[in-house]
Formats: sequence, structure tokens, C-alpha cells
Amino acid sequence: MQKRQVRQSKHSKVSELKIDFVSAPGRTHDAVNPVARKLKALLSEDLGFHIAPVNNGKHNFHSFPAKFPPELARVFIENLTSPGEIVLDPLAGSATTVVEAISAGRTGIGFDIDPLALLMGKVKVTPLDLLKLEREVRRVVEDAEVSLMRRSKIEKALENKFDEGTKEFVDYWFGYETQVELMALLLSIEKVENTDVKDFLKLAFSSIIVTKSGGVSLAWDLGHTRPHKLKQGKEKKYKPAIPEFEKRVLKNVAVIRQNPVAGRKKSIQWGNAESLPLENESVDLIVTSPPYASNAIDYMRAHKFSLVWLGMPVDHLTELRSTYIGSDKVTDFKFEPLPPLPEKVISQLSRSDERKGMVLRRYYSEMKRVLGEIQRVLKPAKAAVLVVGSSVMRGIDTQTDRCLAEIGESLELPCVGIGVRSLDRDRRMMPTSTEARIDSQIEKRMHQEFVLGFLKPNRSEG
Ligand SMILES: C[S@@+](CC[C@H](N)C(=O)[O-])C[C@H]1O[C@@H](n2cnc3c(N)ncnc32)[C@H](O)[C@@H]1O
Repeated sequence: MQKRQVRQSKHSKVSELKIDFVSAPGRTHDAVNPVARKLKALLSEDLGFHIAPVNNGKHNFHSFPAKFPPELARVFIENLTSPGEIVLDPLAGSATTVVEAISAGRTGIGFDIDPLALLMGKVKVTPLDLLKLEREVRRVVEDAEVSLMRRSKIEKALENKFDEGTKEFVDYWFGYETQVELMALLLSIEKVENTDVKDFLKLAFSSIIVTKSGGVSLAWDLGHTRPHKLKQGKEKKYKPAIPEFEKRVLKNVAVIRQNPVAGRKKSIQWGNAESLPLENESVDLIVTSPPYASNAIDYMRAHKFSLVWLGMPVDHLTELRSTYIGSDKVTDFKFEPLPPLPEKVISQLSRSDERKGMVLRRYYSEMKRVLGEIQRVLKPAKAAVLVVGSSVMRGIDTQTDRCLAEIGESLELPCVGIGVRSLDRDRRMMPTSTEARIDSQIEKRMHQEFVLGFLKPNRSEG
């Protein structure tokens, strides 16, 4: 990998931006701790991974907004841990870190609160009997096709499937023929007895709906922006759902045949990153990426397109969305005291939009609790790597990288360096275009991600 300059807290480039950056004076972690030395070296490498293979096996089972490249997780796992050690992602998303940890012979553990993320993670790490799986795949596809010939039963099931609000959503976003085909597939999947196989099939089902281009739904785009039904006045062409499902599921079967990943039962679990169900000092490495501030990437907006089919009413999903880190709901929320830089950015934002200021205060409060948990569960002298993007709110850069570094410092979790990676232009597009007159420096930062390296001090250094 190419060498590149790394921003370090002690002689930080941050001063160029006229921001006080809290450093960790007097800590000697580099000299005494090989993890610190390796971490700094890795952060100074080229972390772009833009020439990584497009077909990344299990990582392509289902689309997921803002997932990081598996190579990024792997490089930190392989260099900062040994086989058998514990690698955690408290905001696991599509389980990139957990899969890479397991593949590298480590114990991978991931938590998330998003039902689709949990399904993805479970399917990716659960070993399956391939013969049984192939038999069930054939049976489900045939059964769904046959049942379409006796549509009245399917139509009846469809009539009773959703509550009123959910039905309105489904009728708006799915053509009637597609609804019937999806219902036929679901009824056939429901007949599968083995839960692990059933979940594998449900994930393939979801993956033909939740794609960047809206899959078999009538939405043109689910990847980055608000979904739209019409594009330049044109409606989307109908795509039959059963052949799409068959193509997708067979592709996924081929992937696990070539590259099985066998996790443990609890590799992926429901869990809130702000209060992790883990012992103090029990983890050897954390590699994670938090959501953006202010719902800049709205997982639920896309995920609800398949979750409604998997049995979750729209109202419940709206409620759930408001509990995600970075949500914009600010009532009934417990705010945390924050260090100077986040306070400064929040005040600046509040002057032009008080509510948005509160939304950002919520985000930094949540992230303070997450970093507190990271500090608690990490073993001493071990590292946490956070991949973060910054957001623009009312033309103001939220400076997420520097604010989180400063929050870490305030929690005895010093940030020893910040690497920068450029994003592909079509990945993780931030809503910059909706923000009038942002300067070119901010525009540039919106197409970058920051890789923060935190190190828990040894007890003697504390
Ligand atoms: C940027 S994504 C992680 C992407 C992941 N690195 C990947 O490669 O797929 C952030 C994740 O945090 C999850 N999340 C949000 N709030 C959470 C919370 N309080 N506890 C656990 N997970 C949460 C979201 O559901 C989302 O899956």
C-alpha cells in the first residue's frame, strides 16, 4: 500500500482550520505499545481500496447503504489482532467486520438494532447444509410459480396481509402484479421448516426489493436519496419478481458454496451500541462505522420497502427509526455534556437553526455514549477504529471526525491519528446538493471519510 500523510492529534493539521484540538500530551503509547505503533502506521497507508474486487462474495448478498470495504476491516483485523482474539462491531450494519473477523480466524461479534441488518448478519455467518438448501430453493421457486396459476388464494392472502397504513404504502410503491408475485414467494418461503434456510431465502427475497435502483418496486432510487416514483416523467418498467428471486438466490448459493463463513450462534445479536451487553475489558479490537448525523443516510427509508413484506407494519418502523443514532427526533432525549469543539459547532449551527442544533447535540450525545462503551469494553492497550463521514447542516460542516476525536479524549480514549480516504463519487453521496453555497473545502470533505484510530491507554499510562 502507498504511504500517505496521517493527521495526528499532537501536531495536528487541524490548527490550519482554526480549531483547538485536544491532544494527549505526555502519553507514551507508541514507545511501549506495539498496537499503537501499528495503528499509526496503518492509518498512514492508502485506505481507499478503490481497486478492490467488485464481486465481494458474501458482502454482496444484499445492498446496504454506507458499508465500508471489507479490505478496510481486514487490514486492521489482521494487523492488530491474533487468531482467536475478539473483534467487535457495535454498529454492525451488513456485518462486514464480523464476516472478515471470522474469515481471519478471530471471534467476530456484532450488534445492531436494524431488523434488516440483523437478518443480513445472521445469514452471512450461519453455515448451511448446501444439499438441503438447494432442494428448498428449487421447491420454493416451483411452488411460487405453481401457486400463481391459482391466484385467488394468493390474492386473498394479500388482502389480509397489511394494516391500513402499511397497505397504503405498499399500494403506492408496488404494482399489483408484483404484489401478487411477492406474496406467492412469501407463502412458499413460509412453508420452509428450517429457520436458517428460511432466513437465507428471506434475505434473497429482500435483496430483489432493496437495491440502489429500487429493485422490483416502483421506486427509481433507494440508494442515496429520497425514493422517487417517476424519473423525468417516466414510470419504471415491470420486472417479474419470481425470476429475479431465482437469479438472486442461486447467485447467493454459489457464493456460500465457494466461500463458507461459519460464525457462532451469537456472532450477530440485537443490541444497543450505547449500552452493550458485554463485560468490561473483554474485546481485543473494534472496527466500526457509526451512522451520519441528522439521518443523512436514512437506513429505514430504504429498508422499510422489504421489512413491510417481512411482517413489520409501517408505523412500527417509523417508531423504530426514531431510536437510531443520528435520528432527528429531539423530544424525550437525554443529552450529554460535551467538550469544547462539539459545543462550538452546535452553537454555530443553532444560530441559524435552533432545531438542527438540537439534532446535532443529540448525535454527539449518542456518540459520546457509544465511545464510552467502546472505552469500557476494550482491553487496555487495544485499539478501536471508527470510519466516519462528516455532514453539512445549514451549510455548516459538522466536523464529525474532529468532534469524535475530542469526545474520545474526554473519555480517556485518546485518538492517536486520523486517516483520510476518498469516496467513490457515487458512494455515500451526502445531501450536499441540497445545501446552498457550501464552500469548496466543505464540498471536498463530503467526499471523504475519516478513519479515526483510538487507543485505550494501559493502566499505568492512565
Ligand atoms: C454506517 S452503518 C454500519 C455499516 C457497516 N460498517 C457495514 O459495513 O455494513 C451504521 C449502523 O448502525 C446501526 N445503528 C444505529 N443506531 C444504533 C444503535 N443505537 N445500536 C446499534 N446499532 C445502531 C444502523 O442500523 C446501521 O446498521
